[in-house]
Amino acid sequence: MSVPQLPEGFVFGTSTSAYQVEGAASEDGRSPSIWDTFAARPGVVVDGSDGSVATDHYHRLDEDIALLRRLGVRGHRFSISWSRVLPDGRGTPNEAGLDFYDRMIDGLLEAGIEPMATLYHFDLPQYLEDDGGWLNPATVDAFAEYAAVVGRRFADRVAHWVPISEPAVAAMMGYGTGEHAPGRTLIFDSLWAAHHLLLAHGRAAIELRSAGATSVGCANNHAPMWPASDDEADLGATKLFDTLWNGLFLEPMLLGRYPADLAPLLEDIVRPGDLATIRQPLDFYGVNYYSPIRVAAAEEGAETPFRFVPLLGHEQTASGWSVVPHALREWLILTRARFRAGLPPFVITESGASFEERPGPDGVVDDSARIDYLRSHLEAVSAAIARGVDVRGYYVWSLLDSFEWAHGYTTPYGLVHVDRSTLERTPKRSFEWYQGLIAAQAAAP
Ligand code: NOJ
Repeated sequence: MSVPQLPEGFVFGTSTSAYQVEGAASEDGRSPSIWDTFAARPGVVVDGSDGSVATDHYHRLDEDIALLRRLGVRGHRFSISWSRVLPDGRGTPNEAGLDFYDRMIDGLLEAGIEPMATLYHFDLPQYLEDDGGWLNPATVDAFAEYAAVVGRRFADRVAHWVPISEPAVAAMMGYGTGEHAPGRTLIFDSLWAAHHLLLAHGRAAIELRSAGATSVGCANNHAPMWPASDDEADLGATKLFDTLWNGLFLEPMLLGRYPADLAPLLEDIVRPGDLATIRQPLDFYGVNYYSPIRVAAAEEGAETPFRFVPLLGHEQTASGWSVVPHALREWLILTRARFRAGLPPFVITESGASFEERPGPDGVVDDSARIDYLRSHLEAVSAAIARGVDVRGYYVWSLLDSFEWAHGYTTPYGLVHVDRSTLERTPKRSFEWYQGLIAAQAAAP
């Protein structure tokens, strides 16, 4: 079986986020986030679960860092819970919350692992949502304060920073369709949230740098958009959704402007100077890649002009995503060709797949489908590098089977199985495979 070849110095990593793994939701001064509130609403999470315990990473930090050390990764991406660090959203920091991340960062460094810290992974303090959340520009100011607090405390030890993970998901699924917290269904008015999340990215990058951070990037979800047919309506719907999902975040961050097609919708929102704030120099452009999306024109009377249709002829993950590794290679090559000198090096800040495997009678979790996913996507990255694209690392989503938002615990992504009743960790076959790949690369001449 082929082994992906990546250049010397390429960072193999793993990725997690606070609400999805930490648990300890009301301990040591943490206040509720929008996900605590949202998950408590009946019917919004398929299995009725929430992240109050999650994988209990908060109490099992040492065990999880030991797993990372055993895996041999050079980087680990995690997110900081805003409500743990600033329970009121702003104001006086909570020392117990800061202390948890001190222990995390020091533990990773001691294990020889570079920490990559995300400041926001969908978990806004509920107090700020009560004042309008990401629709309110005051949340951007609060985010800048939060960035200054964590920057001052951790910038001496955190190797890489990501202010906002997937602003597209936070804005569109949180404020547009309501599938994610806070569950608002504003459709196109979610553009207000998108703009404020982008501004928050820029303001935080400025604060982090002035606190001494030397590597600040982003983690944007990108999906190649494939039209359902060559029918004009499907082509138009695909172009629109591509602009909303990909262009709306990439263009302001890299070019300091909104895509021309959408600019009129943003006229009332954007204030002078905002785009210059959003376009901060980036040390890396983080891409969260899972799958292409197949788009068709919506049916008559629908709220949005597009709908999503299954991509047939490809393997499907438990999340319903199609496995199409070459789409990642193409996206990297095309995006590099489009931006050239204006583009910092890429890092794949998330990539992975959910498959529902459980330990067999011998205790082994045989997740060969996940191994195939990871192998083929690392090969796609390797092929893009061979074509001259600068990609510096690949962070597997995810280390642990964790709380998967509206899917609850039904779509596990981990290299490590987490038993829902005992929370016992069992490394899967994919863990051993990744460990072997990393060791082989390290030993290569
Ligand atoms: C991207 C999100 O950042 C992460 O939170 C989620 O678990 C994965 N996608 C898988 O859906």
